[in-house]
Amino acid sequence: MNILGIESSCDETAAAVYSDAGLKSNVIASQAIHEQYGGVVPELASRAHHKTIWRTVQQALDESGMPLDAVDAVAVTQGPGLMGSLLVGLCFSKGLCLSRGIPLIGVNHMEAHIYANFIDGDPEYPFVSLTVSGGHTQLVHIEEPFKHRLLGETRDDAAGEAFDKIGKILGMPYPAGPAIDRRAKEGNPYFHDFPQAMLDNDFEFSFSGLKTSVMYYLEGQQDREAFLDEHLNDICASVSRAIAEVLIKKLRNAIKHTGVKSVVLAGGVSANSMLRAKAKKLANEQDCTLHIPKLAYCTDNAAMIAITGYMMARRNQFSDMNLKPFASLNSV
Ligand code: KG4
Ligand code: ZN
Repeated sequence: MNILGIESSCDETAAAVYSDAGLKSNVIASQAIHEQYGGVVPELASRAHHKTIWRTVQQALDESGMPLDAVDAVAVTQGPGLMGSLLVGLCFSKGLCLSRGIPLIGVNHMEAHIYANFIDGDPEYPFVSLTVSGGHTQLVHIEEPFKHRLLGETRDDAAGEAFDKIGKILGMPYPAGPAIDRRAKEGNPYFHDFPQAMLDNDFEFSFSGLKTSVMYYLEGQQDREAFLDEHLNDICASVSRAIAEVLIKKLRNAIKHTGVKSVVLAGGVSANSMLRAKAKKLANEQDCTLHIPKLAYCTDNAAMIAITGYMMARRNQFSDMNLKPFASLNSV
């Protein structure tokens, strides 16, 4: 069975092919246009998807060595994401399915981040996932395939959003997560104790106060520019520690509460080196196995959509042509 996966929920147009032999190709076209605006501009994103989607799909097919005729089903991100961007992927996929007479599979983007762990690994059920992306921060108990129980999530900003907003305050381009990560490696994580919110709650998160505290901390410096020149790496390291420590504390609570022996990280922020290191330490301490996707499968990609579609197809979970996109998980 050969599944073509298509992802267009935000600012990456991506396509991949997953078959019985594993991942055959994985192509991403990132949209540089948003950089100058310091964040994703939805209308520009959907136009860019529209322009690149066919080329991206064609490249994924070429690199897989498979003709379009060999594709058995198309898996596409149904949501959550930007409505205009989702519509481009969904309409394109429906067109392809109708013209080739093949089935469609609507994939939940957040679930796909979790199943990205199966591209190179085989996490044992039941497991807990710490899913941390630009739009979501969730602790999920996965009892068996596609049986997900949400333990807790963020009440305001997502962890990736916190990295990006703090990066903006520090004068870094969007998305700032990877740059903060790079600088943090050269800095002192104990340079400053930024606040860690909601530690009295087991599974819920709050990250919006952190950016305000970074803002006030910088305002409190006599010469902000000179201070940043000297200590930017230390601030990046201290901010990374504040975020990673909260995530790990709540992941520890989730492991203890569910009694799982297996945990996974998922989503763009799982690329963060400090979080990865702390998660490894936690897994050792709790005697759990830990799976973290390869960096290319942490941030948005279509390989995760293709493998999730493959797993759904194996379970006969197909969608009909009335499949509608959803912008937020609350609207599912
Ligand atoms: O999963 P993703 O690619 O898109 C969403 O579904 O939101 O996550 C993107 C987020 C951005 O906020 C980005 O800054 C963050 O992941 N990110 C990182 C790192 N790489 C990406 N945050 C911290 N450290 C990183 N190395
Ligand atoms: Zn994502």
